[in-house]
Amino acid sequence: MTVSAQISGDTQKAEPTATKTEDFVPPYPFRYEKMPPVWSLIGMAKRNFLSIWGVDDFQSRLRSKKIFTRELVICNRPDVVREAFQTNHDVLQRKSPQMRHALQPLLGDGLFISDTETWAKRRKVVAPIIHGSRVKGFAPIMIETIEEQRADWASQGEGAEVDALADMAHLTAEIICRTIFGRQLGKDHAAEVVQGFSDYQRHIDQVDILSLFGLPEWLPRFRGRAIKKPVERIMTVLDKIIANYEAQKEKGEASVIGGLLEARDENGEPLSREAIISEAAVIFMAGHETTANTLAWAWFLLSQCDKSRTNLQAELDTVLAGRSPTFQDVPNLPYTKAVIEETLRLYPPVPILAREAMADTSIGGKSVPKGSLVMVVPWLMHRNPVLWSKPDVFDPGRFLNPKSKKPNKYGYVPFSIGPRICAGLQFGMTEAILSLAILAQDFELKLKDGTDVQPVARLTLRPGENLPMTLHPRHS
Ligand code: HEM
Repeated sequence: MTVSAQISGDTQKAEPTATKTEDFVPPYPFRYEKMPPVWSLIGMAKRNFLSIWGVDDFQSRLRSKKIFTRELVICNRPDVVREAFQTNHDVLQRKSPQMRHALQPLLGDGLFISDTETWAKRRKVVAPIIHGSRVKGFAPIMIETIEEQRADWASQGEGAEVDALADMAHLTAEIICRTIFGRQLGKDHAAEVVQGFSDYQRHIDQVDILSLFGLPEWLPRFRGRAIKKPVERIMTVLDKIIANYEAQKEKGEASVIGGLLEARDENGEPLSREAIISEAAVIFMAGHETTANTLAWAWFLLSQCDKSRTNLQAELDTVLAGRSPTFQDVPNLPYTKAVIEETLRLYPPVPILAREAMADTSIGGKSVPKGSLVMVVPWLMHRNPVLWSKPDVFDPGRFLNPKSKKPNKYGYVPFSIGPRICAGLQFGMTEAILSLAILAQDFELKLKDGTDVQPVARLTLRPGENLPMTLHPRHS
């Protein structure tokens, strides 16, 4: 029996576990058939942004809804996604007011939330520093950090309970800290940076209602002092780390901060200290929780699906035969990669990509007035039944089977698409593949009995606040 695919009750339950031959449908929030009134949608959005979508939203191509004064346009097929994010980039490059308000106190004019000249300038400087061609240089730091996680799990023994979400967050934060700041400085300051960022995240609103209503930018957003403290804390640590780095110049090792300090724009000018701090904050923020959530979801999905877990273990045992992987092994682990790709399809860490129209434009023949909110929602498009067969089923094989129905690159967008595509795509994929390969070689993780896992979207999509699982060494 497949886990029931019926859409009723509040959620899709993760139990019972699928066996070797069955389809596994992991949990998703209830999808309504008849749209509730706007005020109740806003209440739902504040609790969990994923619960506002009805059955029709998944199947649609292009939809628009007016929420008070603001037009909301949702692009849900490759042709309109391409038009919005590629062809119309000039007009639709600005992040949504919600995103900008949430992150501006922390990221300043950093790449992630800037636009027009500032974005173009920073993108040119920052993207090459974390580009795919540099990942080989970062891989030894990744592997060393993952090995530490493996040793930590090994020390805990059979049946030990872990919070897989917290462990993956710790792992990816360590990796990004050590790659940004260099091994030693990263090690020394990781805990402080992580604490500052998670304090910050706790204080920012999930849904900025004022912006959704189209109210003006200058209206205060009532978060004031609570957010000031973690920002000051993060800025102070980053400033200290940069000063230390300049004093020690950790030479001979690839580090992002070294790249930022040495970078020159087309006029030969270096980045200002504030710009370096902003971009270091961007890379930390953009690069750690996304990968952590991906890995946590992958552990959950594998724990529920015998077939995929067996396939993964078979690949790791055959290709690696007990040794630790290196960067060179990554292309030889196609099933491991497919598990990550399928996880990113079902639970895209950034489930909504939203832009504000900077001028009047049109998409798919529909006029889009200046100020509209244009959204590409990977959560919807990755489960659009027109684009995917059995869209709610976890099936890594769909990324390997040349006959399976795969949409083009504008239909699968966990890293976004167009000129603003994730600058750390190769970094994130390599990190996720190596982490899963090293850890799944030695461990199986089982969901703790009685745990109800549900996807919750805040800034990123996560399996709730924690993910209790038990550790089972494979070769003891
Ligand atoms: C599985 C891991 C990751 C996922 C799913 C992911 C996803 C994304 C997405 C969807 C965006 C665009 C957001 C938007 O348009 O609103 C983005 C932007 C970005 N990401 Fe990633 N990311 C991941 C890992 C990383 C890593 C590891 C780094 C850095 C080392 C990174 C650096 C960035 C940067 C700098 C941007 C801003 C690009 C720009 O605006 O020009 N990401 N990422």
